[in-house]
Amino acid sequence: MLNTGRDSSEVKFITQIEKKDSSISFFDEHGKDYLENQRKFYSQSPDTGRRFFQESLGLNIEKMTVTDIGCGAGDDLLTYEEMGAKKVIGIEPSISMLSEAKKTLGENHPGIELVAGNWKHIPLADGSVDAIMGRYSFHVMSDFDEAILEVARVLKKDGLFLIAAPHPIHDAKIAAEQNLKPGEKMKKPIFEGKFIVENPPHTLEDYLSKTCLEHFTLEEQKDYSMFEDENETEPTGILLKFRKKG
Ligand SMILES: C[S@@+](CC[C@H](N)C(=O)[O-])C[C@H]1O[C@@H](n2cnc3c(N)ncnc32)[C@H](O)[C@@H]1O
Repeated sequence: MLNTGRDSSEVKFITQIEKKDSSISFFDEHGKDYLENQRKFYSQSPDTGRRFFQESLGLNIEKMTVTDIGCGAGDDLLTYEEMGAKKVIGIEPSISMLSEAKKTLGENHPGIELVAGNWKHIPLADGSVDAIMGRYSFHVMSDFDEAILEVARVLKKDGLFLIAAPHPIHDAKIAAEQNLKPGEKMKKPIFEGKFIVENPPHTLEDYLSKTCLEHFTLEEQKDYSMFEDENETEPTGILLKFRKKG
């Protein structure tokens, strides 16, 4: 079930590079605990991101190879399988989350493959997948262009690229409150302050960069709120649907 797609020395190499990145070491350290809180949160709140991803995949899912990058514990992989995807691939850089995903899947899902990798090293062949999803895993990077080129490389023509991320308006509010200097990360308490996550703030221009719009057409943008904090009035989440250009 756990198919690394690479030999073990390469996987170790990727893992060591990424260990330096706090977005991955956080999940290596707190992944299981984070997961319990996340599953509890979504059992009580609407999961707008998941619904957007499901609707965006549309009617032809039985012909599609669907890839979830930063798949975490792999709950969404099961959803895409249940929806009838031809093949489902989960890619994850955190060893701890990969092992949680392995537990989520158990033994009975031969149509789902788990692979060690990340946005900058997508271990898949050129033009090999129909859809790439990044649910709260894409925004962790400071600079998107390298990842955009990887996504463009592995997607087929007309392939879908779907992102769910913290809203740039929300990022701007936190960055101002924390008086961040360029290049500094925001420190954001989540799940009633149980964890502090550190992420770079992003603008809409970061997501719709020149490189991105050279390779993709923006088909849909949705703003929404998760109402984690009752004082929040601005949208906290953004959903983006891109289509790879021919
Ligand atoms: C907030 S969790 C989201 C997990 C899952 N997509 C979901 O919606 O439940 C973020 C995930 O992104 C992964 N991640 C962190 N840095 C990443 C990177 N550079 N490339 C790909 N995934 C990354 C983490 O290990 C973690 O599993």
